[in-house]
Amino acid sequence: MCGDAAMLKPFKDKNYAYLTYPKLTVVVTAGIPGRATAMAASWHTYLSLDPPLYGVSIAPKRFTHKLITEHREFGVNFLPFELSKLIWDVGSVSGAKIDKFEKFNIKTFNGEKIRAPLIADSIVVLECKVTDTVRTGDHDFFIGEIVYAWYREDLFSKDYTLDVSKASQAYYLGKGKFIATDPRRVLEFL
Ligand SMILES: Cc1cc2nc3c(=O)[nH]c(=O)nc-3n(C[C@H](O)[C@H](O)[C@H](O)COP(=O)(O)O)c2cc1C
Repeated sequence: MCGDAAMLKPFKDKNYAYLTYPKLTVVVTAGIPGRATAMAASWHTYLSLDPPLYGVSIAPKRFTHKLITEHREFGVNFLPFELSKLIWDVGSVSGAKIDKFEKFNIKTFNGEKIRAPLIADSIVVLECKVTDTVRTGDHDFFIGEIVYAWYREDLFSKDYTLDVSKASQAYYLGKGKFIATDPRRVLEFL
């Protein structure tokens, strides 16, 4: 693909969000054992190295929002591409009335520093404690300090980059479609 400004057209629809996809999509977990939920989240980001801060953008109507507000902590679970259907499922139904861990048969494990259930099939899991909440339009941006982290050592290279020949995380493209990373298309500059 080569650059051609003439091919760029004004986008008139006000819903710009999908223009910025694909997005690495995680599952945010919140609550305490017995009253917890898990939801798909495409709007999340690393924010600071020292202190280590991570942010997740969550609409107030989500049950996850209620549980994070109550307990001031959340888990960020990075699932492999193969579990895209699970990400889709937990992103399609609210946990306010059902136990998604039971319904979708999600294996969990206990965190070191937070009580929210963490997802055993993850590649990486971050345990976060809320330090700030910022209202951002129709979402609230929860900023959490990463107080503990887990990773699948066997899927990472020695320099702590994901070995994409062994695993891909799940990228949401929009409209129900997920894509994987392509290990044949890696550019290296070091
Ligand atoms: C791929 C995908 C990405 C999503 N990303 C977000 C997000 O970043 N923030 C958000 O508030 N909701 C997002 N959602 C919607 C929630 O995951 C969904 O409403 C979920 O059912 C909420 O569950 P809960 O009510 O148990 O918290 C996403 C849904 C999907 C399918």
